[in-house]
Amino acid sequence: MKRILAVAVLCSLVLPHAALAQARRRAAAPPSPPPPAPQPQPQPQPTILFGAPVSGLNAAQTARFNEGRTEFGNVETVDDGLGPVFNGRSCGECHNQPVLGGGSNRTVTRIGRTLNGVYDPLTNLGGQLLQNQAIGPRDGSSHAFRPEQVPQQANVVTRRKSTPLFGLGYVDATPDQTFINLAAAQAARNDGTAGRVALVDNPVAGTRTVGKFGWKAQIATLLQFSGDAYLNEMGITSPAFPNENCPSGNCAELQFNPRPGLNDGGEDVQLLAEFMAILAAPPRGATNADTNAGEQVFNQLGCNSCHVQSLQTGANAIAALNRVTYQPYSDFLLHDMGALGDGIPQGAASAREFRTAPLWGLRILTQFLHDGRAATIEAAIAAHDGQGRASRDRFNALNTTERNRLLAFLRSL
Ligand code: HEC
Ligand code: HEC
Repeated sequence: MKRILAVAVLCSLVLPHAALAQARRRAAAPPSPPPPAPQPQPQPQPTILFGAPVSGLNAAQTARFNEGRTEFGNVETVDDGLGPVFNGRSCGECHNQPVLGGGSNRTVTRIGRTLNGVYDPLTNLGGQLLQNQAIGPRDGSSHAFRPEQVPQQANVVTRRKSTPLFGLGYVDATPDQTFINLAAAQAARNDGTAGRVALVDNPVAGTRTVGKFGWKAQIATLLQFSGDAYLNEMGITSPAFPNENCPSGNCAELQFNPRPGLNDGGEDVQLLAEFMAILAAPPRGATNADTNAGEQVFNQLGCNSCHVQSLQTGANAIAALNRVTYQPYSDFLLHDMGALGDGIPQGAASAREFRTAPLWGLRILTQFLHDGRAATIEAAIAAHDGQGRASRDRFNALNTTERNRLLAFLRSL
């Protein structure tokens, strides 16, 4: 009974996207009348679709995925512990394109003050991440919680776009040593593009481990990100993140918090992390001779110095994540991106560093780069600076044929 139910839920989840894939296939079909030259045969369509779980899960794991997905979309209320200040009421509010678990163009604001090259996150005014919503007055209280505003003292104000979460379980399941080796290999190449591992605090491990998540690789694990986002985006406290954000830095206001104490005993944080851990990678779009030739161009330009095609997971209890190769087109290392830098040091990242943005699933994005400043893929490439500059200059020098092939490849990801 349970099993049938889970399968039904799964199908309802996947079917609309089968329709989407159909439409895409049609859009990709050659125009009529068909040209005389033989057309490359499209490869078989992937069976896994956006928002599906990894394949080969057992019934219990599938049920857990569905439960986690529900929690991910669950809209929290003040009674549940939402706020006092927050940015969204559910994870899904920001992570929903094209389905729950994706990203979106929603941005959050990060602030700080830099004086003589020294960055101050303005903790006493509410800290680096702004919470731009608040629960207002609670029942029977004259105290109204107010949304945070950018304080006058801030001279660094920047935005961060909500990233898609597809396939991040593979990254979570990849041993730290892989990234350490990758950084060493890049350094040995000595071509000015070497990334470095972000060593960040990992409270569960009790030590610093490799940060892989967030625009600045500021977080080590999906579990940690769950708790962090629950608190900092939604105001839900949990065992690893027990302290509410002080609204605009005014901790005295917390005496009016209608839901003091832990809002989540840790179960939801765990469930959300498990959902993300088994959320399948973005399915690859259709490939053909052009996209294949475009990948060659990608490699010739040195885009793959940072956007590394393939990585391997380590040993894992979930069969689909156990020692498998996946294609994120990222090294998950930090790179100095020069003028693209946002002025915010975070975790191990400096003001100018970013994690190489994974390019899998690129075809469903409509805005690009950390703050969504680029409206097209070309504009995103053109904005590469610092360690990405030489590669960008080679892109600018491409002839039209090569450029179109490269773009065809990128739009197939
Ligand atoms: C108000 C919008 C918003 C809400 C609500 C939100 N997120 Fe996010 N999420 C973001 C943004 C923005 C980023 C990029 C953060 C950064 O790196 O600065 C992000 C990044 C992430 C990442 C890192 C992905 C990567 O590419 O490494 C994870 C994991 C994540 N969110 C999980 C969650 C979970 C789980 C919840 C609910 C508990 C949640 N988010 C709620 C906006 C949101
Ligand atoms: C030195 C490392 C490096 C090289 C080389 C590099 N990139 Fe990037 N790329 C990055 C980083 C880091 C980001 C994220 C920057 C940001 O968001 O500000 C990024 C972002 C992108 C994005 C936007 C992705 C998104 O999710 O918005 C695209 C597209 C992209 N790169 C394509 C390319 C192409 C094509 C090339 C080769 C011409 C290339 N990159 C070369 C490091 C690199």
